[in-house]
Amino acid sequence: MTRLKNYPTEDPVLVTCGLPYASGTMHIGHLRTYVPADVFVRLLRKMGVDVTFVCGSDTHGTPVVTVAEKEGLTPKEVYQKYHQHYVETFPKLNIFFDNYGTTDDKENVDRTLQIVDELQKNGYIYSKELETPYCDTCGRSQPDRFVRGECPYCHSDARGDECDQGCGRYLEPGEILNPRCAICGNPTRPVSRTHYFLKLTEFSSFLEDYLQKMGGTKNARNFALSWVREGLQDWCITRDLDWGIKYPGEADLVLYVWVDAPIHYMSSTEQWAKGIGQPDAWEKYWKPGDGRLVHYIGQDIVYHHCLFWPSMLKGSGYNLPFAVVASGMVKVEGHNFSRSRGYVVFIEEDYLDNGLDPDYLRYYMVASTSQTKDLDFSWQTLAEKVNNELVATLGNFIYRALHFTKKHYGSVPEGKLDSKLKKEINKTIDGIVSAVNEYELKKVADEVLRLAAVGNEYFQSNKPWDLVKTDKGKCGEVLYNAAALVKALTILVDPILPSTAETVWGQLGHEPSEIHEVPLDEALNPPTVGTELGTPKPVISKIDDDLLASLKESISNRIRAAEAAQKGEDMEEESEIISFEYFKKIDLRAGVILEVEKVPKKDKLLKIKVDIGTETRTMVTGLADQYKPDELQGMTALFLVNLEPKKIGGIESHGMILAVEKADEPGRWVPVTVDGVPPGSKAA
Ligand code: 2FM
Ligand code: ZN
Repeated sequence: MTRLKNYPTEDPVLVTCGLPYASGTMHIGHLRTYVPADVFVRLLRKMGVDVTFVCGSDTHGTPVVTVAEKEGLTPKEVYQKYHQHYVETFPKLNIFFDNYGTTDDKENVDRTLQIVDELQKNGYIYSKELETPYCDTCGRSQPDRFVRGECPYCHSDARGDECDQGCGRYLEPGEILNPRCAICGNPTRPVSRTHYFLKLTEFSSFLEDYLQKMGGTKNARNFALSWVREGLQDWCITRDLDWGIKYPGEADLVLYVWVDAPIHYMSSTEQWAKGIGQPDAWEKYWKPGDGRLVHYIGQDIVYHHCLFWPSMLKGSGYNLPFAVVASGMVKVEGHNFSRSRGYVVFIEEDYLDNGLDPDYLRYYMVASTSQTKDLDFSWQTLAEKVNNELVATLGNFIYRALHFTKKHYGSVPEGKLDSKLKKEINKTIDGIVSAVNEYELKKVADEVLRLAAVGNEYFQSNKPWDLVKTDKGKCGEVLYNAAALVKALTILVDPILPSTAETVWGQLGHEPSEIHEVPLDEALNPPTVGTELGTPKPVISKIDDDLLASLKESISNRIRAAEAAQKGEDMEEESEIISFEYFKKIDLRAGVILEVEKVPKKDKLLKIKVDIGTETRTMVTGLADQYKPDELQGMTALFLVNLEPKKIGGIESHGMILAVEKADEPGRWVPVTVDGVPPGSKAA
């Protein structure tokens, strides 16, 4: 059998997946990348391509440190715990890496230091004073996830290194506006210290040229190109943090986690090479030459993979990524994925522990939508896809064909492959190969389902149940063709449903696990006449209504519990005892309302100009449904004047009028007036 090998390259391919932070348990969001990457690797292998598949746990940076603080563990204890969890969970989903290490492994530390050294020698790193947030209350610098504030680009609430609630941009240290400590909530103050920078700006024209040729999905290419064209800035590669890879010669600085994380793609390949007893084998991928690097990532980390990473590789003389495949994000039951609000599905607790077959979830992750679109997970849709597609179309055909053949013939009967069916199988293989070329694996699932529908139609229209009574030879011919289709389907669906394929392969009379070695174009060879069939049993079973109801209930319970916890937290906040020191920080002053105007298209909002003694401030209040502008104008009331500025109704508000909600009339607010007091008078 000729091998296909017509992926865009015939060279060896290294496939990597974005490394999960080893700071939490695996959830549905993770699978948006790992399942398609695993399916892709299995498909390439079936096409005869030499592939290595590596990944590992991301162990450094603030994601791990914040969890360590919350769980009362050291960062190392945290990553070891979750790394172990990942090591155990991936195989349960039939995801098998050739190597799965951690970014804290010696190979990664050594390789990171070698790359940083090379970048330095090549003149791509410089040091500069930088102002970064320091929290006086917590008594330390607060980098990345330890700080929140306003995105300077889209003005959404954002975390220190990423606008996670808005435009999704990467944010440089010191860039966030109105920073506040994510731990205690107090405003931080800028402190100056020396940091190290990679001259990303020097890579601009290289990137513009490289990105146009980079393979993978369009979203990765286009987002990255647009950022390059908007203009890059140099990248700060150090952080004031205790945890991470120490910056050479700097006792108090570590490398930013996004330096050593992608380097693990390389060191994980080195670990693999050692593991197979060929310590130099990693070089075929990473030293300039014929190896091809394909990165599967989530769309939220395109910036890091398409700008930082190729620049680091280029600047230190390594091979560049051949393709970046960026997936859309995951929603849960129509809502943005959110652990804290309960819109999350945990793989062990919610899925595997309920006895659900990992193949169903694999199918869902590739078959429900295009790689680049957001994927909305719901238990209802999972049940529909399993019951209507996998059971009713694929499973039904396989079971009917094998059951009938086994019952009346016991083994594969004699026959000749129908030319129309052969064409259909060929068409399916072509469709699958082009889906691989486009990194659009949904098309693989669609092609397989289409072929299964052809099988059902063939079985139904040839009525073997009649033929067996009238013409056993003709009936055998039909069943030979049906068995040929079952064999083809098993080979073609194996990358998506590996456990199911093993079972059917056994029913076809083979050693089950051998299916994974069978190349794609073997699907064109019908089974050998006379092969004894195994005992056919339905291989895919329905998700029944009771199970579906309990799955739905458990997620609604989680969402309700999250809402209740949130309310509880809010109430706790209201009644929290504060120290006198804390109270002294609250700056309340008398102010005179000079001007009042309605905010266009906002029924409740009024924009007010307030004389607070030292200056005139613009503020926005929500009193428009209770007071006419002229009732407020001229009023002297109490104002909180050291509140962080906030955009309300599109207007930046610099303070807040104090008002009391009447105990006997909820919803009725009355400003706290202090008539006859000059503006600027301080309350205590
Ligand atoms: O965003 C994340 O979850 C990171 N842990 C991904 C790292 S991918 C790579 F560069 F290592
Ligand atoms: Zn933004």
